[in-house]
Formats: sequence, C-alpha cells, structure tokens
Amino acid sequence: MKKLYIETLGCQMNKSDSERIAGILSHFDYVETDVEKEADLLIINTCSIRQLSADKAYSKLGVWGKWKKSRPELKIAICGCVAQQDKEKVRVRAPYVDLVFGTHNIYQLPELIKKIEENEKVCAITNNPVVCNQNDFKILRKQDSVNAWIPIIEGCNNFCTYCVVPFTRGRERSRHPEEIIQEAKNIIKEGFKEITLLGQNVDSYGKDLKDKNITLANLLRDLNKLDGEFRIRFVTSYPSDITDDLINAVDECDKVCKYFHIPMQSGNSHILAEMNRHYSKEQYYEIAAKIRKRFPDVAITSDFIAGFPGETEQEFQDTLDAIDELELDYSNTAAYSPRVFTKAGKMIDKFIPEDIKYERLERLNEKNREVCLKSNKKFVGKVLNVLVEGKTEKDGVIVLNSRAGNNKIVHFVDDTKNIGDFVNVKITKAQTWCLYGESV
Ligand code: SAH
Ligand code: SF4
Ligand code: F3S
Repeated sequence: MKKLYIETLGCQMNKSDSERIAGILSHFDYVETDVEKEADLLIINTCSIRQLSADKAYSKLGVWGKWKKSRPELKIAICGCVAQQDKEKVRVRAPYVDLVFGTHNIYQLPELIKKIEENEKVCAITNNPVVCNQNDFKILRKQDSVNAWIPIIEGCNNFCTYCVVPFTRGRERSRHPEEIIQEAKNIIKEGFKEITLLGQNVDSYGKDLKDKNITLANLLRDLNKLDGEFRIRFVTSYPSDITDDLINAVDECDKVCKYFHIPMQSGNSHILAEMNRHYSKEQYYEIAAKIRKRFPDVAITSDFIAGFPGETEQEFQDTLDAIDELELDYSNTAAYSPRVFTKAGKMIDKFIPEDIKYERLERLNEKNREVCLKSNKKFVGKVLNVLVEGKTEKDGVIVLNSRAGNNKIVHFVDDTKNIGDFVNVKITKAQTWCLYGESV
C-alpha cells in the first residue's frame, strides 16, 4: 500500500475530480491520507480562476519540492486548471514535478501512474478528453458529508471575456443520462442524502448530445423518480439559459431544492456586453422575478466581479443597486483578476487601479452582508425543511448544523435528531450568515 495526499483548490468540479482521482488510484493500491508528510504521492489539483489561486498552487509545489530533496523517491503531481493552462511550463517553475496531467486526462491515470513509478517524468495534456464510463472506477467521496457531487456536464462554450475556464476545461461535454442515473443510484445506496449536479453551465446539459429529450429538466425528472429519501441540487445556472421547462421541472419534482445559483457578474448592461454575457440587466431581472413568483421561499444567489476593465463608478453603482433591487439572498464576490488567453486580460489600458478595485470589492461585500441579513430576516417565523449536516458542541449543548432546501444554514438543538435526518424547523432568529430555529 502506498499513501496518497491530494490538495484541492478551486470549485466543486475540482473537488469532485479529486474524489475520482483518489478512486482511480485506489485500484492501484494508493490509500488516501490527510497527513501530507507521510504521503508517497502528493497531488495538487489546481484552480486558475484568479491569479491568487494559481499562485497558491506554485507556492505549495515549492514546499513539496524542498521535501523531495531529502526524499528523492517522493512523487509530486499537479493537475487541474493551472496544469491544463501551463502544460510543460509548469516545470520551468517546478522542475522536480514528476507528473503534470490536464483536466481531460484523469481517466488516463492508470497508465500515467505506472510511468512515474518507473521514474519517468510525464506531462499528459490533451484537448481531446479521454472518455470512459466513470462508474467503472471507484469514487472516494468524502464520507463525513451527507452530500455527493455528480458532474453532469464539463467545459464551457460561453467565452465570457474575463474567464479562463473555456481554456482550462474545453468545450461542453455532457455525460449520458444512464451513466448519471447509475451513479445517483450508487450514491443513494451508500447513504448520501443529497445529490448536487455539477456543471460550469448546468443548463447546457444535453445540448451536445444528439437526443433533444436529454435536458437538465428531464434529468431532474428522472432522478426525482428514484426511490429513497434524498434531495437534489444543481449548479451553476446561466441566466439566459434557464428555460420555462426547467422551472416547471423544479416545481414538479418534490426532491429538487427550490434554490438557484445564477451568477449575474454585473448589474450594468454595458459591462455585461463587454463581458460577453448574453443577457442584459433587464433580462436578468425578468428571470429572477419569474423564479420568485413561482417559488415563494426560493433563494437566488449570484456571483459578482468588482472592477472589470473600464467599469466606471456609476456602472459599479448599478451592481450595488441590482443586489438591492433583486433582493439577492447571497453573492460570491471577487475583484477582477486578469487571466491569460482571455479578451479582457488584453484590455490593459482599461484596467482599474488596484486600490479602486479593492475599495469597490469592500463596498460590494458590505452590500452583500446587508442583503443577506435582510433575506434571512424574511424567514423568521417560517418553517423550513432542513437536512442535518453536522454537529458542534457549544457550552455543553449539542447544536445541529443543517441546510434548508433553499441553501440557508440553520442551527437548532434537538437530541432526538442526527446527521442525515430531514427535519422541519421553525425559524426563530436571523443573523447575517445563518438562521436559528426549533424543530417542530
Ligand atoms: N460558470 C459560472 C462561473 C464559473 S467561475 C458562470 O457562468 O457564472 C466562478 C466565478 O469566478 C465567476 O462567476 C466569476 O464571478 C468569477 N471569476 C471568473 N473569472 C474571474 C476573473 N478573471 N476575475 C475575477 N473573478 C472571476
Ligand atoms: Fe466562465 Fe462564462 Fe463559462 Fe461561466 S459561463 S465558466 S464565467 S466563460
Ligand atoms: Fe477554478 Fe478550474 Fe473550477 S479555474 S473555478 S478549478 S473550473
């Protein structure tokens, strides 16, 4: 038995990939460890969405490279979006790396791992994904969680001008519904209580397959029919790709959470056009209104970028106003970071000075805190069905940490309930990031 340590940066897709990498390597006698120092094989699964995350990958490699000086038999690998982007160039900064493999090469690991065990240095990056039935390999899911991820579509065809993902994940590729449904059945059998369907654009699911009936809406309907007590989520939605049929499916399917993560990115139509987002501010408002009308307790969350090249103070102000007017329930926020290969990355003369960018980010965060609290307060007095995800002890009392269908975090006390239970909770108190309640 050899020991494997994987460090995962970035989005849920990367976390899901790491579970698959650990699963594949378990067929080759690798056992996962949480202790970096005792590993025989160290893998960093990287993210390139912002420069800060890419830098993190290289500083980790630097630490591991030092360890390898005194333990030459130690193997070091890098994968994920930085690997896909930098390819052989990884070795310019980190020559001691044994294996570089791209986001499309995960299922080639059986042969790659043999090569590095024979002391070969390998760089495996392709733009043609290695395709296989993912159910042929084990998936080592995090067992301390009630949630399991299923990637349903990978890649992106949108080319938003700020975003590196189309370059690191390639074009959209959907998995076949039968394969996804089989994976879901395995997950339910293993005792997980929540399935999150993943995609850079989940709404595009099926568009690259021949059959018109293969859509996210129909996939939700099929998964909803599976036996067992569990619920289903899907992320991330692209505003103008959310169809009426999808909204109908979410409504029809009792297991599907009434929750939408729909990144808006900016509240100004000119900036949205500059970003190559295919909707205006008004179109986003229409979609959000339609969803809110249909699902009274729904939460709509978003992502925003502060300081996109050329963004004026007034245009930024439109973003703050949009967050208010849309009563968004939560937003991920980031300062614009120039990325290699992207159009916006070349708009150097329009770059916003760092101090202004970070000052805008701070105001964005302040607005986010304000609307989150407002959103949470709406739920005081209501009953939400929650799934218990964990427990913490506070002053000798066991507090259950749970999540409602609309993704709100709810804390409550009830010694008759356990991790994995669904419970109806009456909300009694709201704070910025969470709710408190009593089981009913
Ligand atoms: N597919 C999703 C987003 C994936 S990337 C969508 O279309 O919305 C996750 C988030 O990272 C994005 O929503 C965006 O807000 C942020 N992001 C992407 N590129 C960025 C960049 N260059 N600088 C800052 N934030 C960025
Ligand atoms: Fe990036 Fe845009 Fe694709 Fe989202 S839709 S992954 S932001 S290019
Ligand atoms: Fe990062 Fe790649 Fe995900 S760039 S956000 S790990 S798709």
